[in-house]
Amino acid sequence: MTQKVLVTGGAGQVGIEISRLEWPGGVEVVAPGRDELDITNANSVARYFSDVRPACVINLAAYTAVDKAEEDVAGAFLANAQGPALLAEAARRADAPIVHVSTDYVFDGSATQPYRECDRPHPVNAYGASKLAGELAVGAANPRAIIVRTAWVLSAHRTNFIKTMLRLASTSPEVRVVDDQRGCPTSASDIALALQRITDRAMSDAATAWGVYHFVNAGETSWHGLAEHIFSWRAAHGGAQQPRVHPITTADYPTPARRPHYSCLDTSRIAEAFGIVPRPWQQAVDEILSELASIEEQGRHA
Ligand SMILES: NC(=O)c1ccc[n+]([C@@H]2O[C@H](COP(=O)([O-])OP(=O)(O)OC[C@H]3O[C@@H](n4cnc5c(N)ncnc54)[C@H](OP(=O)(O)O)[C@@H]3O)[C@@H](O)[C@H]2O)c1
Repeated sequence: MTQKVLVTGGAGQVGIEISRLEWPGGVEVVAPGRDELDITNANSVARYFSDVRPACVINLAAYTAVDKAEEDVAGAFLANAQGPALLAEAARRADAPIVHVSTDYVFDGSATQPYRECDRPHPVNAYGASKLAGELAVGAANPRAIIVRTAWVLSAHRTNFIKTMLRLASTSPEVRVVDDQRGCPTSASDIALALQRITDRAMSDAATAWGVYHFVNAGETSWHGLAEHIFSWRAAHGGAQQPRVHPITTADYPTPARRPHYSCLDTSRIAEAFGIVPRPWQQAVDEILSELASIEEQGRHA
């Protein structure tokens, strides 16, 4: 019998990569758009569950506009906490596990070494607070829940730091990039692979170790370091003249939401429990840059 995996937020960065994966025979991924399944609407969730009867849920739907969340706190909590609670509860009633994705922004950034799952969360912005509330709500509603915190998500799709830098590269001779926030750039496709492996286990192994896990690509850098890496790659691959990248401080670039200065995550727990060992962020970023270059190339020949 086919087992259905329900993926919410399927049009997002990670959702697109989940849909591109090959899944084992007997597993069917259903990834409705927000118009078909709004996770904040109890009727929509109930109707969808009774039609589809998922064997597992991967929740990627989220309010990810970190700065906008400061003035739309209710909207952020609705999508990031109340919606996930509805999904987790519906999954529990359907006897299905839920794999829920969360963020490094649940931490305040005062650490000096990578955060472990047992470290105390203490968000410094509304987005982080709403995601932490979501983690707690999902765990309370469904004992078969796995929460995967990730960070600095990058892909060839939607809006993200790589795409912003490439756009600036073609319009500005100089760019100023924050150098005092450190984290782990992470490929959406690597997150998708990790979620696939976890989902597979969650559906097949009653002894799955439920709880919170961290997944990010290996290594760390600042936004400035990431920008330098992007422009070096571009220079090495025949890109036109590269902009000069100036390091600035967070204070030089005020944003509505405070950001943690340090949000690296320790991934040893996910390696031990699921055998998931992340590759270096540089390799993952280079792969995205190659994909973007080939999309651009195809566009030129279309
Ligand atoms: N992006 C990052 O740097 C980052 C960092 C750490 C953790 N995360 C977490 O990783 C997960 C995936 O992030 P992402 O970058 O793939 O996000 P994304 O590209 O912003 O995609 C989020 C998706 O959720 C959908 N959505 C929002 N509200 C919804 C609702 N009420 N019902 C159904 N769908 C809804 C959005 O729909 P629309 O297409 O209509 O907007 C979008 O397709 C999220 O949990 C996020 O919090 C992200």
